Amino acid sequence: MTAVSSDAPVVGIDRIDCYTPNHYLDLVDLAHARGEDPNKYLIGIGQSKMAVAALDQDIVAMAANAAEPMLNAEDKANIGLLIVATESGIDQSKASALFVENLLGLDEHLRAIEIKEACYGATAGVQLACDYVRSHPGRKALVIASDIARYGLRTAGEVTQGAGSVAMLISRDPSILVIEPESLYLSRSTGDFWRPNYSTEAFARGKFSEQVYVGMFDELWDEAQGKGMARPEDLQALLFHIPFSKMGRKGLRSLESRIDGPDYERLTQRFESSIVYGKQVGNIYTGSIYLALLSLLENDDTLREGDRIGLFSYGSGSVGELYFGRLQPGYRDRLDPRRHQSALDARQQLTMEQYESMFEGQLATDGSTQTLTQTDPAAPHYLAGIKEHERQYR
Ligand code: HMG
Repeated sequence: MTAVSSDAPVVGIDRIDCYTPNHYLDLVDLAHARGEDPNKYLIGIGQSKMAVAALDQDIVAMAANAAEPMLNAEDKANIGLLIVATESGIDQSKASALFVENLLGLDEHLRAIEIKEACYGATAGVQLACDYVRSHPGRKALVIASDIARYGLRTAGEVTQGAGSVAMLISRDPSILVIEPESLYLSRSTGDFWRPNYSTEAFARGKFSEQVYVGMFDELWDEAQGKGMARPEDLQALLFHIPFSKMGRKGLRSLESRIDGPDYERLTQRFESSIVYGKQVGNIYTGSIYLALLSLLENDDTLREGDRIGLFSYGSGSVGELYFGRLQPGYRDRLDPRRHQSALDARQQLTMEQYESMFEGQLATDGSTQTLTQTDPAAPHYLAGIKEHERQYR
């Protein structure tokens, strides 16, 4: 738990936006190709489509595309900390945040870093950003979660892939969600999911990873009960890291016998709103819980200003954190549900053949020059190619 002085500024999420590539695979097509019953994917996994990133939409381009629409000139001049959270890093040394800073045209008087801890990285970023703004109340912090989830063709994890970014501007007196300074967290080395440097695909002990996820949620929930931090009747929604919607549902279901029926029903109803976007996008790793937040805020008409929301963030390996926020007056004015759903609806559906060929297509790794064409005309930023081992962005 973090001790913050009671006169510290109120901080949290002032803006939130997302980007996901403009290609998707229908999971019914994937089920047919893999000889599975489509209901295994649609109901058992709880996903309907997954976003597929073309080579020109790497995590840097996606990150810049997520942040661009929500920033004005004043924000750009006031950002003192830029964090890109990713487990799909493009370089072992240089932070992807530096490319993003350039693409967004931010003032150079900022700290630009990359954070990695599997799907937990963005939450580490949000909490560091909140601490930064508490100690530099005149400045803002930009946190962007950006990832491409890859497991390999014909693996159990294949249906849980996806790609996308979520950007959040953290400021004092935020317009959307005030983040409470006290939160609960746990770090424990676990072999549930990992990606060695030599592999472009992740490895997972799938069933074990599900147990660790639910186990960590249970521990943090119980600790929160012991400390009086999460009275179910005070929580209007509880968000989960959503690698696939069934996973979050399993976390929530672990509360069914432990909290009162009306509270469980309310949290379940809100959970349905939180998975509307994720079911169409898939796992975006570190951004998944924040896509769930955006989905809840943009798809639930019953939430009210002042409502308290819990967030359970999980990253394999493993780190979990349970924290809380309160919705701010006028938060709906900061959202753009029509633009987000239209972008999802406008995506191009891939055939299985196109999907497999995109999966297997990789960037050059031998130093040769490679030129890419822009695949998403609506995206302001893209990777134009590679020259002398360096990525070239437009
Ligand atoms: P699997 O072995 O193919 O799945 O892998 P299954 O056979 O157990 O079936 C899945 C579910 O579908 C089961 O339901 C079946 O009963 C059901 P459950 O028991 O789970 O409730 N089912 C059906 N339902 C309806 N109609 C049917 C039907 N057939 C079966 N006809 C697994 C599934 C998730 C393990 C696999 O996809 C995987 O390994 N995924 C990757 C790992 C993962 O996502 N783990 C989640 C927890 S760890 C985490 O969240 C962190 C992560 O995001 C990484 C990071 O932190 O960076 C992954």
